[in-house]
Amino acid sequence: MKAKMRIVAALGLLVAAGVLCTAEIQATAPVAAQAAPEKKYESYGNTQVVAVDPIKEMFSHKSHVVTAGLSCDSCHPDLFDRKRGSAKAKGDYTMASLEAGKYCGACHDGKTAFNTTGSETCKTCHGSDMKQPETIVFNVPVKTVIFEHKGHVDMGLDCASCHAKAFEMRKGAAEEHPDKFTMEALYAGKYCGACHNGTDAFASNTRCTTCHIGVKGFDRKFADAIPADKKDHGKKNH
Ligand code: HEC
Ligand code: HEC
Ligand code: HEC
Ligand code: HEC
Ligand code: HEC
Ligand code: HEC
Repeated sequence: MKAKMRIVAALGLLVAAGVLCTAEIQATAPVAAQAAPEKKYESYGNTQVVAVDPIKEMFSHKSHVVTAGLSCDSCHPDLFDRKRGSAKAKGDYTMASLEAGKYCGACHDGKTAFNTTGSETCKTCHGSDMKQPETIVFNVPVKTVIFEHKGHVDMGLDCASCHAKAFEMRKGAAEEHPDKFTMEALYAGKYCGACHNGTDAFASNTRCTTCHIGVKGFDRKFADAIPADKKDHGKKNH
């Protein structure tokens, strides 16, 4: 494999780059800058790019370039542009494409690297088994808002109707922003409000208790969690 043959060259350059960086830091003199073989160095990028933070968590340059010893041109530009988000922008960056041998699937086919179809591999890339949880209960900023994947998917909604525009495919992501994950945002068409707008599904300013479960005993149970003025705020939007 072409990529394998370049391992030594790539590692060599990495070491060289490391040395150069050190030299530059220590000597900041123009001599060190001149000594850098700019052109050659550029074609393989530099250690800064290689060691830069993982692209979107699941992909790490470091584990591919340093650990697996792949050269830049085993991925760039044939499989991926050197621009974060460009694969996504193509519109077919999906598991189906990967399984058909595109993008990551060019290597992650069970031969060159672990496959994308075994149930045990999902976690290696996604950090979870990617099974949609049947029921999600949000507790931030207020307690017990219920969301049922099963119900929504059975209605015929596909994954893309919520992911990743309205919601990330990661439990807890929306709750990391309690200042944003609010009724105000829902009324403005964000999160659940993308559909719960009175047209595509019941409006977010009605049927509070359908989403806020257990809210029969609303005041008794959540009086502290939901301040009275907030409750009024919701009702004003009727
Ligand atoms: C195993 C595949 C692979 C290898 C090998 C690889 N890259 Fe990447 N690179 C990617 C992916 C995937 C992205 C993200 C592309 C996307 O989001 O569409 C990326 C993005 C980039 C970006 C854009 C970063 C940004 O923040 O916009 C640069 C620059 C880059 N790579 C440089 C390099 C250099 C230099 C090397 C060699 C040292 C290298 N890559 C090796 C897969 C690879
Ligand atoms: C080699 C890494 C890799 C493995 C292994 C992998 N995936 Fe993916 N998966 C991806 C990438 C890359 C995307 C596109 C991400 C994006 O759009 O930002 C994706 C997207 C998805 C999506 C979004 C919808 C779609 O169909 O594209 C789902 C669902 C998914 N993966 C499930 C799984 C499951 C289930 C497994 C295990 C059987 C799995 N993935 C294994 C890399 C992987
Ligand atoms: C040019 C080939 C190639 C491409 C393209 C590629 N990988 Fe890999 N990947 C490898 C190899 C080789 C390994 C190490 C061997 C193994 O684990 O099977 C690896 C390992 C990994 C690992 C495990 C890393 C670790 O530290 O344990 C993850 C996660 C991963 N790849 C995700 C991805 C994702 C996501 C993409 C697409 C964005 C991708 N890979 C594209 C070749 C590739
Ligand atoms: C009606 C909206 C909607 C639809 C349709 C939908 N999801 Fe989700 N999904 C969510 C919400 C909401 C979350 C939680 C996000 C959060 O906490 O920020 C979520 C989270 C997830 C998670 C993360 C689970 C975890 O443990 O981190 C996965 C995986 C997932 N969905 C997969 C899917 C798949 C696969 C489909 C299509 C079969 C799908 N979803 C369809 C709304 C939806
Ligand atoms: C992609 C569109 C979409 C998104 C986003 C969405 N829903 Fe729905 N939801 C629907 C549709 C369509 C229905 C059924 C029509 C109706 O009841 O008006 C529904 C019904 C419901 C129901 C009633 C289910 C039942 O058993 O009767 C609840 C509760 C609900 N959604 C909660 C939520 C919550 C909470 C969120 C955000 C976390 C959310 N939905 C996001 C489309 C969506
Ligand atoms: C479509 C589902 C849905 C409906 C209908 C709904 N909510 Fe919410 N509500 C949510 C979600 C999702 C959150 C954010 C997650 C959390 O707080 O657990 C939230 C958060 C809140 C919050 C805390 C954030 C903020 O805006 O201050 C209050 C208060 C609230 N809802 C009141 C109401 C009232 C009052 C109604 C009825 C007029 C209502 N909700 C109807 C889904 C809904």
